[in-house]
Amino acid sequence: MHVRRRQQLGYPTTFWSFPSFFRVIVVVMYASSTSALRRKSAAFVFPGARGYIPRLRSHSSLLFNERRFFSTSVSAAATVKDSPGSNSKKTGYYVTTPIYYVNDKPHIGHAYTTLACDVIARFMRLDGRDVFFLTGTDEHGQKVEQSAAKAGKSPQTFVDEVSQNFRSLAKIMEFTNDKFIRTTQADHKAAVQALWKQLEAAGHIYLGAYEGWYSVRDEAYYTESELVDGKAPTGAEVVWVVKEPSYFFKLSAWQEPLLEFYAAHPNFIAPESRRNEVISFVKGGLKDLSISRTTFKWGVPVPEDDDHVMYVWMDALTNYISALGYPEAKGSSPTPYQRFWPADLHVVGKDILRFHAVYWPAFLMAAGLAPPRRIFAHGWWTKDRQKISKSLGNVIDPVRLVEQFGLDPTRYFLMSEVPFGNDGDFSNDAFVRRVNNQLANELGNLFQRSLAFIAKNCEGQVPEPTSALTEADVAMLRSARGLLETVRPLVRDEQALHRYSEALNRVVNEGNPYFDEQAPWTLRKTDKDRMATVLYVTVEALRSVALLYQPLIPASASKLLDLLAVPSERRMFADVGADAALTPGTPLPKPEGVFPRVEDPDAPKDGAASPAKQKQHKKTKAP
Ligand code: MSP
Repeated sequence: MHVRRRQQLGYPTTFWSFPSFFRVIVVVMYASSTSALRRKSAAFVFPGARGYIPRLRSHSSLLFNERRFFSTSVSAAATVKDSPGSNSKKTGYYVTTPIYYVNDKPHIGHAYTTLACDVIARFMRLDGRDVFFLTGTDEHGQKVEQSAAKAGKSPQTFVDEVSQNFRSLAKIMEFTNDKFIRTTQADHKAAVQALWKQLEAAGHIYLGAYEGWYSVRDEAYYTESELVDGKAPTGAEVVWVVKEPSYFFKLSAWQEPLLEFYAAHPNFIAPESRRNEVISFVKGGLKDLSISRTTFKWGVPVPEDDDHVMYVWMDALTNYISALGYPEAKGSSPTPYQRFWPADLHVVGKDILRFHAVYWPAFLMAAGLAPPRRIFAHGWWTKDRQKISKSLGNVIDPVRLVEQFGLDPTRYFLMSEVPFGNDGDFSNDAFVRRVNNQLANELGNLFQRSLAFIAKNCEGQVPEPTSALTEADVAMLRSARGLLETVRPLVRDEQALHRYSEALNRVVNEGNPYFDEQAPWTLRKTDKDRMATVLYVTVEALRSVALLYQPLIPASASKLLDLLAVPSERRMFADVGADAALTPGTPLPKPEGVFPRVEDPDAPKDGAASPAKQKQHKKTKAP
């Protein structure tokens, strides 16, 4: 038989691609285990399966479907149980944001970095990992000292107030950070001094004198050759630091070890283009780094020399280990430091990659501590292609975005509009288009029309799939249940967050034509069994999709799962597959719209209700 004919008859083509002797073995094994397989395959597609098997067995076309289910169920089981990082093994996962300067209130850039980490942290938790997600504020340094003076406040009062804005933002955006660290905390300061002493004891610190360019805005030193038109390469103003005593870290000694480390750990810096930039920077030669200042006071004092305060970046980078209790003595049970260090992922903006990918691993290696596993540098948001800055008056306030459009649309837009790692330009127009197209017109629509139809025609219960599955049904279920396998490496290994949401959208966008082609409204008149099966397949596929949308749009995904009557204890990624399939006959709540369309508040009004008044879970009309 030709492969094409075999396909038409419904034989899995992969089977026919094996050599004939292998096919004989498979057929013999298959024949001898039909009843076991029947149970297994039914369990893949159907709910809580046992109660439904007798009924399915009596169906004449069951064998045809079972063959298909067999090939699918094997991969579905592998999805959940066999992949590294799945919930079969609970292991620690540590993800961090940069800690934010408290010289001003948070803007979209800060919200963006923490949101990305929040999505990753939620994803890893749902995938069964023991997650520690850290964010916080960077409260020392000349920049903060100057901002406090400008505000006419003491530095401590000033940082207490501004730091609170970042905590409030975390609440508003429903970030699930496990800890919020502040560098003015006593335990953090003690940790920074401990790291200093460790470096000093190992001979990596010496006293010298610094003279050169410094940018207070960047809190960074620049060489003459790095300046562009008399400014820092970032565009920040620089000042000449007149020769002053300073402690130095012997960074020059770490040039070769760092290059060896990058070569041995090709995934340490991402994206690839940024990795290449860092490597060429290090190859260009590393100078010893000035790590203390004497001309201002707002910082952690150098141990046994309090004329000096520590360089703010040395202070700030240490937050990643001070938050875990470093340098606490080893206890009998693993300490947070032992459980979570080295960090799995530091997410940073591209502007601060050098500090994280060069200075930080050098400090750690010099102190005999393990460097982090990976640093991902994301791009910058611009507005009308211009840098966002207070002086240009184009700052985008994340709190206002949430008020205008709702939280989940904001989260969804920021995570899906721009490939993570690239720069992106913000506009209300792009926001409205993306959110309405994908959330309202595709995901919301498929949910709404399938559930509204079920409410009317299936007594408001999960329908019972009594007819045999067709190829289209199996393909639909396979796409939805195979999603975890697709998205896990995208999130966990690559941080390709935009591709993660694209993968979910692809399945939803397959669901709408599936529903149209199967046309349950026609089947209602001609074949009620088939109608029930189509509806079951649709909502069962949506269940898997909604589970995987949870990290991106948590409140909406939870609402969708409520509408499918998915119990709260069946909402982990381990439940994406058949084992947790919907149980026919389960009563469903009254369907309601989850994704109202958003509107551009700056667009000319045509009498429509103000979008600011729309609530995220407002009831919408059934399509
Ligand atoms: N305090 C340092 C980080 C110390 S970490 C040990 C710092 N703070 S920051 O507040 O200036 O910036 C924090 C993060 O916000 C950086 O990763 C930065 O890239 C990000 N963003 C600031 N503006 C941004 C955009 N316009 N777009 C995207 N992210 C940007 O640096």
